[in-house]
Amino acid sequence: MLFSNTSCTDSQACEGSWNKESACKIGKSMAVQKGFEHRLIKDVKGFLLEEEGRCLYEIAAEASNMGPCLEIGCYCGKSTIYLGTACRENNSILFSIDHHRGSEEQQPGEEYFDPELFDPQTSRVDTFKEFGKTLEKAGLEDTVVPIVCRSHVAARLWATPLSLVFIDGGHSYEAVYRDYNCWAGHIMQDGYLLIHDIFEDPEEGGQAPYHVYKLAVTSSLFREFPMIKTLGVLKRL
Ligand SMILES: C[S@@+](CC[C@H](N)C(=O)[O-])C[C@H]1O[C@@H](n2cnc3c(N)ncnc32)[C@H](O)[C@@H]1O
Repeated sequence: MLFSNTSCTDSQACEGSWNKESACKIGKSMAVQKGFEHRLIKDVKGFLLEEEGRCLYEIAAEASNMGPCLEIGCYCGKSTIYLGTACRENNSILFSIDHHRGSEEQQPGEEYFDPELFDPQTSRVDTFKEFGKTLEKAGLEDTVVPIVCRSHVAARLWATPLSLVFIDGGHSYEAVYRDYNCWAGHIMQDGYLLIHDIFEDPEEGGQAPYHVYKLAVTSSLFREFPMIKTLGVLKRL
């Protein structure tokens, strides 16, 4: 169960640097029991730390009992494996939104450009093929619903309450604010808002996710839990 203050006594299951108070207590060996294929996860391109991924898994395992989960920004599917595996175990659904054209920093000439993900025929980044392969390899095709468009377009007529929203799409101020404004209102009571790439120190990374995270914290709509690396964890009151 999440959020209890009991400490873990199984040394194997506690592998990793878990904070007793944190939202995420699952350890590596437990994750294996839960059906992750670590080799597959390692082979999938992406920006998520393993500890953050396991936290996504554990929170989604609780949340997806209440309703569907949704992620914004799936790239090649690393976060999708963690969230989707938890959803599959609860016979739930993960909506995965991405236009699959890459964020600003993933374009040619930018810091996170990956030439293997550039389609010379269309002359643009295309992560959808890799994402499809990941879903197939991870056995998530009957759990994950890919939504291929800009996130605010998907939000326009959205009406389904969500048990978890994971924001990891565009990282500009405009993009993160828009994702928060479009999606946070769909989170059901006791559902979760997770925001990736939160860096308090501007020397360590872009500030947009951090500012939006602070906005959510001060809104009084959420209870704040300790961060897992750069992953902010908020629970809807
Ligand atoms: C940092 S990557 C996501 C990483 C992924 N969560 C993982 O675990 O590896 C950001 C992704 O967001 C997508 N993206 C950026 N802006 C978007 C938008 N407005 N709507 C939909 N997807 C967007 C990009 O195409 C990119 O694949």
